[in-house]
Amino acid sequence: MSSDVRRSLPTGALRIEHIWKRYHATAARPLLRDGLRRHADDWMWVLRDASLEVEPGESVALVGLNGSGKSTLLKILTGVTFPYAGRVHTAGRIGALIAVQAGIHPDLTGRENIYFNGTVLGLSRREVHRRLDSIVEFAELSDAIDRQVKRYSSGMQMRLGFSVAAFLEPDILVVDEALAVGDASFQQRCLDRMRQVQQQGTTLLFVSHDMAAVEAMCRRSVWLDQGVVQADGDTPSVLHAYRVGLEEKARELSAQVDDPVRVLDVTITGAGQGRPRTNEDVAVSLLLHTRETRTVRLSIGVSEGPSTPMFVVTRTVELPAGRSGLVCRLQDVPLPAGRFYLWAGATDAADRTLVTWRPVAPLDVEGPPRPRVPAGVMVPSPIHVASSWHGAGAEPSGTIRDQTAEPHQISECAGDQLGHRPAEEPAVAGGLEPPSAREPHRTGRLRV
Ligand SMILES: Nc1ncnc2c1ncn2[C@@H]1O[C@H](COP(=O)(O)OP(=O)(O)OP(=O)(O)O)[C@@H](O)[C@H]1O
Ligand SMILES: [Mg+2]
Repeated sequence: MSSDVRRSLPTGALRIEHIWKRYHATAARPLLRDGLRRHADDWMWVLRDASLEVEPGESVALVGLNGSGKSTLLKILTGVTFPYAGRVHTAGRIGALIAVQAGIHPDLTGRENIYFNGTVLGLSRREVHRRLDSIVEFAELSDAIDRQVKRYSSGMQMRLGFSVAAFLEPDILVVDEALAVGDASFQQRCLDRMRQVQQQGTTLLFVSHDMAAVEAMCRRSVWLDQGVVQADGDTPSVLHAYRVGLEEKARELSAQVDDPVRVLDVTITGAGQGRPRTNEDVAVSLLLHTRETRTVRLSIGVSEGPSTPMFVVTRTVELPAGRSGLVCRLQDVPLPAGRFYLWAGATDAADRTLVTWRPVAPLDVEGPPRPRVPAGVMVPSPIHVASSWHGAGAEPSGTIRDQTAEPHQISECAGDQLGHRPAEEPAVAGGLEPPSAREPHRTGRLRV
């Protein structure tokens, strides 16, 4: 890092400038003879011209499909690996949990690891000692703290790694999918701790596939797609763009599946043939095709993109050979405004798949926006529940307002509600040639 940049960066800031990173595409361990034979296209670019600027105290999420380069970017940021081209500047201490065992030495005890990590972060023994009890207490490892870490379960190792990263008071906290390993109560405590650390002014870089956690933690998100920054902006807009991408990918993949029953067409209408609205009925018309007469257990679900639906309705129907139409009326659908996806799947009586569970149509709902919840609180399913409020300050006149009855007035008067603004055009990174790449590059393969 040049001394100019180091001087000018405030503590807790980071700059990633035009990073390129490649790995060998072949999985085999490199041998000497490979070095002689290697072809130019043995390389796979996993980061392509990725740039990111984060100010002190900001919380930024990195989202993207498996293999999109998120962990690689964090590893470059924390110096675990080096870029092919580009620059990274950071100012301040970095506490990182980038893999369950990263930074944790298996032969040392939990306690020794805490001291070791503190020293690496530049803390004195006394400073680490002062924080030791909170680390052990948070990780719930008091009984195991003097055991070698290699005897820990992966959840225990993660608890230790997270606690060390989050309690040694870093200026920048980097957390890569820590929540995936922990149990539900530890996940919530991690979110609470990250929130506390944020409030103390620490910069947070958070990688997760859990969109509810991302929404709970980070105002800003960055979507990485095949190593390219596809979108960088406020979390609702970036997640919207990402979910649309996810759904398109899932539809593309499922179009290749040759199911015994095919969904030929889907039409969604709201009450009175208009667009679906919050707490009103939604009619889903399906056109199905089967080669032979079958008894089909059909399920329809709604999600925000991933395959985990917020709710599912199921019906067993007799489908005659050929095409048949079917209408499902979902009653009083309690969704706030926004874009959702209708998923469908079917099995026979023996639970064999007849229609692979997949998104079949987008579902755009008009109505009240979802409320902004306190930071750090996860809302896995955004269900709209109408409410009325009494008492001081609820209404100037003290009257009761039925939120569902007047959605437009509500969105005007509710200053503390975060609307689903239309997605901004995601910033698309251009110029995909590496600065001095001699070899033609391969794109990272997309995996779901
Ligand atoms: N050490 C390595 N050697 C070779 N290829 C690697 C190495 N590390 C990562 N890769 C490849 O780089 C690509 C990006 O990997 P990375 O771990 O950054 O993805 P990710 O976005 O973190 O994915 P996930 O969501 O699954 O954690 C993948 O194709 C991966 O196989
Ligand atoms: Mg990863």
